[in-house]
Amino acid sequence: MIVLGSNSEIAQAFVEKILEAGGKYSTIYLFTSNKETTEKFARHIDVKFLQQTQVIELDLLKETDYTTFDEISSDLLFCATGYLGEGTEESLYDDKNTARIIDINYAKLIPVLNFFAEKMERQRSGTMIVLSSVAGERGRQSNFIYGSAKAGLTAYLSGLRNYLYSRKVHVLTVKPGFMDTKMTEGLPLNPRLTASPRQAAEVIYTAYRKQKNTAYVLPVWGVIMMVIRNIPEFIFKKLKL
Ligand SMILES: NC(=O)c1ccc[n+]([C@@H]2O[C@H](COP(=O)([O-])OP(=O)(O)OC[C@H]3O[C@@H](n4cnc5c(N)ncnc54)[C@H](OP(=O)(O)O)[C@@H]3O)[C@@H](O)[C@H]2O)c1
Repeated sequence: MIVLGSNSEIAQAFVEKILEAGGKYSTIYLFTSNKETTEKFARHIDVKFLQQTQVIELDLLKETDYTTFDEISSDLLFCATGYLGEGTEESLYDDKNTARIIDINYAKLIPVLNFFAEKMERQRSGTMIVLSSVAGERGRQSNFIYGSAKAGLTAYLSGLRNYLYSRKVHVLTVKPGFMDTKMTEGLPLNPRLTASPRQAAEVIYTAYRKQKNTAYVLPVWGVIMMVIRNIPEFIFKKLKL
């Protein structure tokens, strides 16, 4: 199993879920931009599940030498890589913040996903589970750079799923909605619309087993986004969302 963004609590909850459900892998490859903290998770997995892991550095903001990953392939990839960006008004037009959001959520992530997609295509089997966001369904004033990067990611995944379908590889796009993780620490989220990493792991695992194409973590987000997508633009542009 390949995990991208291994420090994400959602990724870690999913790894635990799949191992609790009896999953066994020759190695779980934990890709991370922060090896030190991921090593702790790797040790936890080794001890709790007697499951071999390997922590591999991958910082999307640094040059990546893909040849070092050439030996790595798997039937399952879970990608939780993402970056919300700074939420202050000053950072809204800040080039560095903008580039970082676009790079981590889209521009530098797609080549990595392509790299592993091609391997799965060659082996003619596999599932790619990728966390995108409801933010990608319609641009809103509160996070339009992040939303546009996630929109690009969602469109990419839809196309990739279409391309890989006849090649026996499945792509699952997850749109989590509000999540109680370090990404949203300090943000005033409505608890009724917010899910825990454990809840997300359960939903994603079920969606994976059922070969779903897309999944919201809380079903209510499907309804909310249907409403949001259908608000006429001349009204939508006046809303504070
Ligand atoms: N939290 C929410 O409300 C929410 C809502 C909708 C969608 N999502 C999406 O769900 C996914 C997981 O989010 P989360 O809530 O678990 O947040 P998170 O803890 O911030 O997870 C995102 C992960 O991305 C990885 N990452 C960040 N910068 C990176 C870089 N420069 N290079 C490589 N990897 C990098 C980090 O893993 P490493 O430290 O291991 O590198 C980080 O743990 C993300 O794609 C996020 O956009 C979250």
